Amino acid sequence: MKKILVTGGLGFIGSHTVVELVKAGYEPVIVDDLSNSHISILDQLATIIGFKPVFHQVDLADEAAVRQLTITEPQVEGIIHFAAFKAVGESVQFPLKYYRNNFYSLVNLLNAYYGKSLNFVFSSSCTVYGQPDQLPVTEDAPVKPAQSPYGNTKQVAEEILKDMIASGSNYKVISLRYFNPVGAHESALIGELPLGVPQNLVPFITQTAIGKREKVTVFGDDYNTPDGSCIRDYIHVVDLAKAHVAALKLMEQDSFTGYDVFNIGTGKGTSVLEIIQAFERATGVKLNYTVGPRRGGDVEQVWGDVTKSTEKLNWKAELDVDTMMSSAWAWEKAIAQKAL
Ligand code: WQD
Repeated sequence: MKKILVTGGLGFIGSHTVVELVKAGYEPVIVDDLSNSHISILDQLATIIGFKPVFHQVDLADEAAVRQLTITEPQVEGIIHFAAFKAVGESVQFPLKYYRNNFYSLVNLLNAYYGKSLNFVFSSSCTVYGQPDQLPVTEDAPVKPAQSPYGNTKQVAEEILKDMIASGSNYKVISLRYFNPVGAHESALIGELPLGVPQNLVPFITQTAIGKREKVTVFGDDYNTPDGSCIRDYIHVVDLAKAHVAALKLMEQDSFTGYDVFNIGTGKGTSVLEIIQAFERATGVKLNYTVGPRRGGDVEQVWGDVTKSTEKLNWKAELDVDTMMSSAWAWEKAIAQKAL
């Protein structure tokens, strides 16, 4: 069975990808430093997949620890690299924390397994596009100057990977540019676990609906969009997880060489107000929200052209916005019951 290292594997997208890897017949090995995840997710995963996956607590920014990992896990056929800090606002406050963790982790990992001709999937983001000149945005759209150190770490990481391939490494690499991942596994055993006050829209909505937050503030309804609120390409985290399996399978084909990049979204734009309406429709819960001022750094509208992913990655998102909202709500209720 092909062993796949999943760094950040106890995180939101990582844990959902572990489930899809097992369903596809791979053996996931989870590496996580638990800085932004919870060890209880390991037991939740065991309940879903029927066994407890191998787990190593490792700070990938620590070079010696990563070298030790290659001794513990020498027979790795692929790596899916999620491990990184990802809060836009926090990255502006603490840029060095973001550059250290996100770059040291990536370079340490690539160095440690260098020469083993691995298939490497990198977790990138639509953030690299900034506000695209044309919508939907395609993979060959220009990468705009990053709006945050977080976005910069994603842009530079893609350059690091391309330079490594160009130097003749025998890695195969695919970068997946995620749009906005939301929702949760149908079991409500895993989902998004925002530590502290959620920065992202959907966890703020579900925490407001459960009573943890007083109301949702819509950050601006005076944008140049149909209802005035910002537009994003929201994608169910399970569809997103399946894209990582598709990326491994593409790299397992002899015809794939070097490096490629794919948009992982639905190809459909949805506004903040439409997300709120979808949540109320899907759950029957009336949401307390008001319109407030714009949030600095927000892109007005972005959604992905997913033609390349559909045709070359052989992957397409299947779950709709109502399913995203109902699964996110089921997860929030499960957290409340477990007081997770
Ligand atoms: C979505 C929309 C807000 C909260 C970020 C990162 C991106 C990725 C996903 C990691 C925006 C509006 C939000 C609220 C609101 N992260 N909003 N009220 O900013 O599109 O993307 O998270 O990979 O890289 O940039 O996601 O969920 O924060 O915001 O009105 O309380 O919801 O203004 O228009 P974003 P988000």
